[in-house]
Amino acid sequence: MKLPYAEPYKIKVIEPITQSTREERERWIVEAGYNLFNLRSDQVLIDLLTDSGTGSQSAAQWGAIMQGDESYAGASSFFELKGIVERLFDMPYMLPTHQGRAAENVLFSALIKEGDVIPGNSHFDTTKGHIEYRRAVAIDCTIEEAADTQKELPFKGEVDCKKLEEVLQKYPKQQIPFICLTITNNTAGGQPVSMQNIKDVSALAKKYDVPLLLDSARFAENAYFIKTREQRYADKTIKEITREMFSYADMMTISAKKDGSVNMGGFCAMRSAELYEKASTFNIMYEGYLTYGGMCGRDMAALAVGLDENTEFAQLDARIRQVELLGKLLDNYGIPYQRPAGGHAIFIDALKVLPNVPREEFTAQTLGIELYKEAGIRGVEIGAVLADRDPVTRENRYPKLELLRLAIPRRVYTDNHIAVIAAALANVCERKDEIVRGYKIVREAPIMRHFTVRFEQL
Ligand code: F0G
Repeated sequence: MKLPYAEPYKIKVIEPITQSTREERERWIVEAGYNLFNLRSDQVLIDLLTDSGTGSQSAAQWGAIMQGDESYAGASSFFELKGIVERLFDMPYMLPTHQGRAAENVLFSALIKEGDVIPGNSHFDTTKGHIEYRRAVAIDCTIEEAADTQKELPFKGEVDCKKLEEVLQKYPKQQIPFICLTITNNTAGGQPVSMQNIKDVSALAKKYDVPLLLDSARFAENAYFIKTREQRYADKTIKEITREMFSYADMMTISAKKDGSVNMGGFCAMRSAELYEKASTFNIMYEGYLTYGGMCGRDMAALAVGLDENTEFAQLDARIRQVELLGKLLDNYGIPYQRPAGGHAIFIDALKVLPNVPREEFTAQTLGIELYKEAGIRGVEIGAVLADRDPVTRENRYPKLELLRLAIPRRVYTDNHIAVIAAALANVCERKDEIVRGYKIVREAPIMRHFTVRFEQL
């Protein structure tokens, strides 16, 4: 008999999670202004808000933490991190930052000016925020098929090269500081980008003399999908695929809290000495000195180990199979989600699950609240709340998709937790005819409103 699959690790430390009653959760969500970000973590049973910084570190990483060098300048931990960045990404210049958006802040300060345009595939919200804050515009060139949640495509996060070339033709290169390619494409459902698409985007970047930036938060998951779905790469290692992906790029930003397998950290890296000089000044101003930026020595040491470990196939296989398992269970219950299952999360198609709740009343947010009340599971809205208002007209923006993201932290929950998530969603779906109204916003911030917005039930 073929043996079933099992994770390539065992569990050494466990952390209790709190059970609660429906009545308690109904009270807590009102107090939270119906914003799941406002809940305390001990009001949550299974926390799928994000896979960012919420994973478990390995024994080797905890060991490295004790070896961390906390020197202000020239710490050995910095050089360990720099070494693996060179080996994996072949980028000779690196600036550590406290997380991904800080890397964006540092690098974009050196690159973006008012009136610029930055084409890419579904820029992440902080990326878009840092672009729009500088009065520049993010142009989304993602393939149209990404908006059809039921269409199965192996690489649904890709750039439509025709759309990209139109942008490159329309604007002079002085107005396009870089192309931003996000791997995997988080906003489109944790969907990967093929090596062929990375190569094609890179060829266009070269043709129009515009640099290519990889937003690399989930680069290792992207490499896993290239290995398992793009035939030519089946026999290559994740590290070889990673090196090839980055060989087509000029620079990178990374939130190390995802595929770096650490709880905090990030960096930007580049090939150009001139850009490094420019960005260095901003790193010193916003983050910290060049050899630590926003990170402790121990965090850089743990990241160096995390990057090495999480670019091994077995680690990624266990993770992505668990996300897939959630997808399969949802299939059994007939619950629609962005297909195929993404690398880090399942994105529930809220418009299909709650067809009676109008978009103006925030359908995916409504689904998120129902799931929390049902079982204490916290997901995150990726829809009209997140899409925010148009910076010029201040009108609400309605993206093509209205999704509830259930992000799975790395090495944290067991398959039993996954089964609870699927069953809880099935229970919500059973009540879909009774759920006809949503919520209205009563308080919101001028930018990135989703973190602090408050709602009233309609
Ligand atoms: N880029 C991508 C693709 C991301 O997914 C994120 C963060 C960032 C940049 C910013 O990094 O959080 O370290 O500052 N995504 C998290 C998420 C927050 O939940 O998907 P950060």
